[in-house]
Amino acid sequence: MAGPIKSVLFVCLGNICRSPTAEAVFLHKVKQRTLAIEVDSAGTQGFHTGCAPDERSQQAGEARGYSFEGLKCRKVEKQDFEYFDLIIAMDEVNLRNLQSECPEELHEKIHLFMSFSALEEDIVPDPYYGGKKGFEYVLDLIESASDGLLNYITRRNT
Ligand code: 4NP
Repeated sequence: MAGPIKSVLFVCLGNICRSPTAEAVFLHKVKQRTLAIEVDSAGTQGFHTGCAPDERSQQAGEARGYSFEGLKCRKVEKQDFEYFDLIIAMDEVNLRNLQSECPEELHEKIHLFMSFSALEEDIVPDPYYGGKKGFEYVLDLIESASDGLLNYITRRNT
């Protein structure tokens, strides 16, 4: 893919737990590094459209210093595939759903988030039906993959 990466879209199923957390963590790290990258998140399903992120995600994230202010759930739209330079899926189901909606020539924009982390995990697991520990684990994975993704973008953009 040619050109610098100026925008990233994080995608999960509901856009209320994992992808808004990724958006909050990644934006925090973008600002820390004084980079100019547009960050957004969306879900492959629209069950919670217009809702704020899950309270449990917000509590766990805010305790680590991340802001969820103004985040509202939305569904992935056709124009997202054109607009965003990178589209980052939390798990293989999200990946396959994105691939099935995305024009073939834009598939190279879609990646699994954990492919940018050195950790053993391949996916960011859905914490929705689990306990508090799951939300902490999601944050651990997202922090690691965000650092890796920012290193990748920095290398690509220089
Ligand atoms: P997320 O988690 O994909 O990380 O936002 C989920 C949120 C809601 C549901 C499933 C997963 N749900 O079935 O309502």
